[in-house]
Amino acid sequence: MTSKEAILEMLEAGKGKFLSGEEIAAKLNISRNAVWKNINSLKNDGYAIDCVRNKGYLMQKNNDIVSPQGIFANMKHPEKVSKILYYDCVTSTNSVARLLTGEGAQDMTVVVSNTQTQGRGRMGRAFYSPENTGIYMSVILKTDGKAENPLLITTAACVAVTRAIEKVCGLSPQIKWVNDVFLDGRKICGILTEGITSIESGELEYVISGIGINFSTDREKFPDEIKKTAGSLYCLPGGRVSRNMLIAAVLENFEQLCRNPKAENFMDEYRRHSMIIGHDITFTRKNVTYSAKAVGIDDEGGLTVLMPDGKEQTLNSGEVTVRRV
Ligand code: BTN
Repeated sequence: MTSKEAILEMLEAGKGKFLSGEEIAAKLNISRNAVWKNINSLKNDGYAIDCVRNKGYLMQKNNDIVSPQGIFANMKHPEKVSKILYYDCVTSTNSVARLLTGEGAQDMTVVVSNTQTQGRGRMGRAFYSPENTGIYMSVILKTDGKAENPLLITTAACVAVTRAIEKVCGLSPQIKWVNDVFLDGRKICGILTEGITSIESGELEYVISGIGINFSTDREKFPDEIKKTAGSLYCLPGGRVSRNMLIAAVLENFEQLCRNPKAENFMDEYRRHSMIIGHDITFTRKNVTYSAKAVGIDDEGGLTVLMPDGKEQTLNSGEVTVRRV
């Protein structure tokens, strides 16, 4: 770790409190001048740090710059994550994660970026990923050849996000089967789960769970095609909650849910948050659109629908639209 990263770690851990230059210098075994230079470099990166003579340095609480140090500082169990790789800009965090799996990435390696130029959604759609206002991250899970149900990873990620939003932000999000989180009727989060299969063994080696959250994205700036349906957690940046806090909570929840799915029994929580059970919906299969009623979600993440002929069917993929009457 560089001195700059170590100073950032100390400031993030003591956010809102003064740390004296002397204390930092002694801990890192560097000169006070070196501390001052690194603080200036952090300020140039955009960190809001107060420098007061005889008091030292303080990172302001409303600072909302994402960094591994900031995420770890907000985790109760940082050891549950192997590594966090942060980028200012990537094409897609899922694409970076995919490359890392080729290099033998460890389980619970996380890729986070401040913006994405080719953020991907399901069904070949783009995921709008403007800088400074969103959370774009991919979690790499190593399956060790064990057959994982990708639908359950997606549902676990949805529950991890809803739990985190409830706890950290005090808001009440809902889940739209299978991979979307909504707040006040607008989509604020999408999840894209991708599997990596070994060419040699044909077995599933890794699962990448890509999570995109509109954190403080300006609703007016959403592209026209999603303006009516997309929402954002907060209207303005710089609030009580930082992106680092929310990322930390999502990661801790996700790790817990994936490691201990039985004990967690998270499908009940998923069902409780569902915004489609009991509603009339449409779904598309092989280019044909069907009308049905969503009646339940099973423990494997499948959606049970009641067709107009009175028969039930289970959907394991695809997307549904809630019919408005
Ligand atoms: C969807 O809404 O259909 C899923 C959107 C998933 C977006 C996230 S952002 C981080 C990760 N990287 C991507 O390119 N996509 C996922």
